[in-house]
Amino acid sequence: MTLNIASYNNGSSKVSSIRKQEDIDNLIIKKIASLTINDSKIWTSPKYDRSKNVHRFFQYPAMMVPIVQQTLIESITTVDNSVTTILDPFMGSATSIVAGMMNGLSCYGQDINPLSILLSKVKTHYFDIEEVSKRSIELIKSINSDERLCIEKNFRGIDKWFKVSVSLELSKIVRGIRKCEDIEIRRLFWITLAETVRLSSNDRTSTFKLHIRPLEEIQNRNISANELFEKLLNRNIDDIVSHNKMLLSKMLVGKNGYKKKISILFKNSTEYIFIPNGGIDLLVSSPPYGDNSTTVPYGQHAYLPLQWIDLKDIDESITEDLLSTISAIDRKSLGGKLILPSQEIVDNLFEISPSLRNVIEKLTVTHPDKTSKIICFTNDLYIVLQKCCEAVRKNGYLVWTIGNRRVGGIEIPNNRILIELLEHNGIKLLTEIKRDILNKRMAQRNRSTTTMVTEDILIFRKTF
Ligand SMILES: C[S@@+](CC[C@H](N)C(=O)[O-])C[C@H]1O[C@@H](n2cnc3c(N)ncnc32)[C@H](O)[C@@H]1O
Repeated sequence: MTLNIASYNNGSSKVSSIRKQEDIDNLIIKKIASLTINDSKIWTSPKYDRSKNVHRFFQYPAMMVPIVQQTLIESITTVDNSVTTILDPFMGSATSIVAGMMNGLSCYGQDINPLSILLSKVKTHYFDIEEVSKRSIELIKSINSDERLCIEKNFRGIDKWFKVSVSLELSKIVRGIRKCEDIEIRRLFWITLAETVRLSSNDRTSTFKLHIRPLEEIQNRNISANELFEKLLNRNIDDIVSHNKMLLSKMLVGKNGYKKKISILFKNSTEYIFIPNGGIDLLVSSPPYGDNSTTVPYGQHAYLPLQWIDLKDIDESITEDLLSTISAIDRKSLGGKLILPSQEIVDNLFEISPSLRNVIEKLTVTHPDKTSKIICFTNDLYIVLQKCCEAVRKNGYLVWTIGNRRVGGIEIPNNRILIELLEHNGIKLLTEIKRDILNKRMAQRNRSTTTMVTEDILIFRKTF
């Protein structure tokens, strides 16, 4: 059932327009409920497709499940066809942005991690396959004929994290990529290199934190970065072909590519969120569940791949200082700086969120050393949430996925805290979905979160 808000609002009184908006809310709630009743696993999605199509270009940590995001967006846009724009201020691997594209929306995404920006730019670009194939053949030829014995990059720890033979091969790929004149295709090559680096370095791939493999394993490991790169590039081209087919079948592509707007910004969302004219109709996002150093080290996971990529090709404003240490990106991320806000700000946070106050009171008794990090993180999160509330237009919808982690054995009720912080800003909770986390690595983000096996999808509407 589709309702057109535009026609609803035409000439209607304020009271009836509020009622109509509530009717739309109810239709969305019913739709979500009926999807859940028809298929109890729909939000868990065992048919999970993180490892399919463009979503496997690079294994970004804590990726959401594409089909789940697509279904959520569809559930809202089919009921409220005034929704034409989507924002994700914590874009990561662009799962919600690509899901927004599949629903024909104009997409606005931002993130603080340069690797997220590169990945998102590649995943949202509509590539000319013939051109990509031609340039790929040229690149592979260039790599295979390159006999130089010179290592293109130099950073602290290069010899620890890469065998010399691997560094020499990665250097040939870097030199070959630089010869390609098309920036979009170069970005596709860089992201293919990023995954090659992830798989050919001496880092164990089993965790998101950097952990060196045992010496014996490194010595016995025979890996060719060039062969790996070629294999991944061919796979990526196949994935782009099927992605293009999907966009074409939905008639979302014109002669200049995707018909709607795509904006991918390298931004710290605590400082700035881009607001298009008329505001955002729908926000779909998943924030970090705590500071990166104690939850998921998104920056650390990106550190080695980014060392091999020419950063200016990702975005002109990215500077080398983000790679000065393995934790530089994580320090700039939500909760990364351990500077306690003023008592006035903390008191205000506690007043807005009794759930935050309660859990901090409990932790003060058992683990007083752990309270500052949670307060700093929540304060940063609240700064972003307030900016999001400004960015979303009146009667726009917000879909947040969030999990409750444990700190010192105590559950941090991120879901309740998020609801309280948003409600204070005129954002009304419509419905909640609980989903199981199937991905083991995600569930066991680290020791303190071993019990995090579910997360919540919270759907809200901005009421004023
Ligand atoms: C849970 S992940 C998002 C995952 C994403 N939904 C996906 O499917 O890949 C959270 C993201 O927030 C980003 N982030 C953390 N602090 C940020 C900040 N201050 N500004 C912008 N992005 C930030 C991280 O870099 C990370 O990519």
